[in-house]
Amino acid sequence: MSQLKPAFKFQDNHPPVSDFEQEVLAGLRATPKTLPPKFFYDEVGSGLFDAICRTPEYYPTRTESAIIRDNVQAIARCLGRGCLLVEPGSGNSAKVRDLLAALEPHSYMPMDISKAFLQKEARKLADEFPWLDVYAVCSDFTVSMDIPIHPEGVHRVAFFPGSSIGNFEPADAAAFMVNIRDMVGDDGGLLIGVDMKKDAGILNAAYNDASGVTAAFNLNLLTRINSELGADFDLDAFAHHAFYNEHLGRIEMHLKSLKAQTVHVAGQPVSFAEGETIHTENSYKYSREEFAELAARAGFRLDACWQDADGLFSLFYFAAE
Ligand code: AVI
Repeated sequence: MSQLKPAFKFQDNHPPVSDFEQEVLAGLRATPKTLPPKFFYDEVGSGLFDAICRTPEYYPTRTESAIIRDNVQAIARCLGRGCLLVEPGSGNSAKVRDLLAALEPHSYMPMDISKAFLQKEARKLADEFPWLDVYAVCSDFTVSMDIPIHPEGVHRVAFFPGSSIGNFEPADAAAFMVNIRDMVGDDGGLLIGVDMKKDAGILNAAYNDASGVTAAFNLNLLTRINSELGADFDLDAFAHHAFYNEHLGRIEMHLKSLKAQTVHVAGQPVSFAEGETIHTENSYKYSREEFAELAARAGFRLDACWQDADGLFSLFYFAAE
């Protein structure tokens, strides 16, 4: 009997390109000064992020991977085999590899803003899983969750691992979950990894690793601005500053000016007082109840939650209701 060849398709939704200069200048002119965390991920920054994930202090990545591996059959039963699995912000599709064999989805749809990277990674995955249909979509999932195919009788499940939801402000996280809910429809679901509230010592260590990789990741933003916008940040005059803000339930990352100084960015002067910071990232932590509540407001019902033995990290499955 002849076997149908699995499909590989690529759709470019032409996501809007951010204006690096304009967004950096706007952030540095604001009070307090701020820079969007999406700018961390140039080539060097992406490499540093991978290195963060391998530090002994940064538990989320390996904890989530172990949760997936330890529970993969139960996860597959919960999601239901034969789904269209959509992964917004798929990057190198690292985590989904542990799911695919057990889940046997109808097709996998990685979605990413970086066209060349997405094409390369999606192709690689399609070669590794020759039985799987792969439909890669180049888009900015924070702007649009449109998907190009809606195969009949196939339920849709969104996969959003890595606790990336923690980098959204809570109102934006809620809006994103509503968009996911609209995309998956009434018989769909959401499998999502979330970092839990916990002892501040564990959290502070995770964002202040002893080998200084997270500091290098944060400071690389200034290196990037120097090289792409002709700026003159002195990297020795700024320091990585990360701490758990218990009241707001989030890790805050900042770059702290170690002296009063004026820096030039794209020819524009930007002055810093001694101790003034640029706020570069928030990483919100949730309790199980808080997150279930957020999902409920978006139209999802908690179906299952898998955790590690220490309750550091949760993988939730929410069904549309
Ligand atoms: C990508 N994101 C989930 C990471 C986090 O933990 O918020 C980014 C990161 N920043 C510093 N370390 C890791």
